[in-house]
Amino acid sequence: MSSKSDFVVVANRLPVDRVVDADGSGSWRRSPGGLVTAVEPLMRKRDGAWIGWAGDATPEGDGPLPPFENDGLSLYPIALTENEIAWYYEGFSNTSLWPLYHDAIVPAEYHREWWTKYVAVNQRFADAAAEIADTDAFVWVHDYQLQLVPKMLRELRPDVRIGYFLHIPFPPTELFTQIPWRRQIVEGLLGADLVGFQTPGAAANFLRLTRDLLQLKPARQSVEVDGRTVRVRAFPISIDAEAFTDLVNSPDVIARAEQIRHDLGNPRRMMLGIDRLDYTKGIDKRLEAFEELLDDGKISSEDVVMVQVATPSRERVEQYRMLREQIERTVGRINGTYGSVGNPAVNYIHRSLPREELVALYLAADIMVVTPYRDGMNLVAKEYVACRQDGTGALVLSEFAGASLELKQAFLVNPYDIEGLKAKYLEVLNADEADLKKRMRAMRRYLQRHDVMHWAQTFVDDMDAARERDGRGSAR
Ligand code: ADP
Ligand code: F6P
Repeated sequence: MSSKSDFVVVANRLPVDRVVDADGSGSWRRSPGGLVTAVEPLMRKRDGAWIGWAGDATPEGDGPLPPFENDGLSLYPIALTENEIAWYYEGFSNTSLWPLYHDAIVPAEYHREWWTKYVAVNQRFADAAAEIADTDAFVWVHDYQLQLVPKMLRELRPDVRIGYFLHIPFPPTELFTQIPWRRQIVEGLLGADLVGFQTPGAAANFLRLTRDLLQLKPARQSVEVDGRTVRVRAFPISIDAEAFTDLVNSPDVIARAEQIRHDLGNPRRMMLGIDRLDYTKGIDKRLEAFEELLDDGKISSEDVVMVQVATPSRERVEQYRMLREQIERTVGRINGTYGSVGNPAVNYIHRSLPREELVALYLAADIMVVTPYRDGMNLVAKEYVACRQDGTGALVLSEFAGASLELKQAFLVNPYDIEGLKAKYLEVLNADEADLKKRMRAMRRYLQRHDVMHWAQTFVDDMDAARERDGRGSAR
């Protein structure tokens, strides 16, 4: 493994998590979430280095962890102690920033000791990037856990080109300014040459903050700071659509999709939800709307079956524990009332699944229900569309997911509006097949042209264009 790299990804998580098996031996499991899904194909193409946390605790006082190769990727693990996991990751990242950036769906909490660890861990990531990046390298920093890294890295390595991409929403000034350390965060991000967001609205929120908080003079897609131009733009992230097409055509996956429908009792319609078990995803109201349609006698559980996959996530954070209890109570209540032996109305799976099984579910489902209260993009919506090769199937999609700006032919819905959700379910359940195909084909055409490689290329091209204007070399 070469010690320097000209393409470095810096993200909170590595693409794999270390897990200790029952016999005490260690193994690797794919990390959860959309960031890994999007960035991994790019890493394979660019043969870069990936700096991130391996998902477990390192004892206090242990030295840095050695780099390693996994499945052809060069990985540089960052050690986090129990205390850093509690304060940097579960605390500031996931109890302060995560809820605030998602419309404060649950109240954000701020604690000074969490912030101190956030700063310290960001510095560790920046130090590692400074160490690994070759002269003039392209360092791509990702997501809300590492917003201070661009500035820290620029101070250490002014020669490298720094891109930053936020995978989640970016809130308006009115919410963002709650953060006691708001200035430091905006200044941290402005250390990058290019700051990318999922939507134009998020980019505009950030530019407005540079004016409101730092009294800078932002232009439409950039802002001047300390004699540098920082570009600020939307780059809607996507998926490796071709990889999904390959899986959809696999005979094993096709057979598994048929088996799933058979096991569900061959219902007329199968509805599907796949999400991390997160309070932003709207799983509660999605299930309640389904339950009310059963209560009202508008659907029957023989006719319409729901499958909900809820991937375990951030399980030590209180709000996530409460959500799990709430969702499992709702599933239990619906099944107690409407299920029969061997045929639950809601089939609930709370674990990580292999990619092949997810694709078989996408293939089997007639209706995909994606109803977040707020979501940066939502890749599940795009994965479903990528898997519907024959043009069948319907996507019910929240207006508040970034994906709704692109997948315009989906059945768009306000996820807070239970009556609206119910009406949308009924509309889709009774929709005309030709209309469904027209919508799905339009979304598929869009996705073919806007896959994850397109996303990465537009980001890199934007960095190059800026570099050429400044008379420096290219990012390739
Ligand atoms: P988020 O980043 O908030 O988790 P996204 O919808 O953007 O949401 O991305 C989720 C990613 O995680 C998708 O690529 C999806 O296929 C994957 N995923 C979701 N649930 C599971 C699961 N149970 N097992 C494996 N992968 C999952
Ligand atoms: O895409 C949003 C995101 O928070 C990623 O940053 C993260 O890797 C993923 O969801 C899963 O969350 P976590 O890393 O906290 O398990």
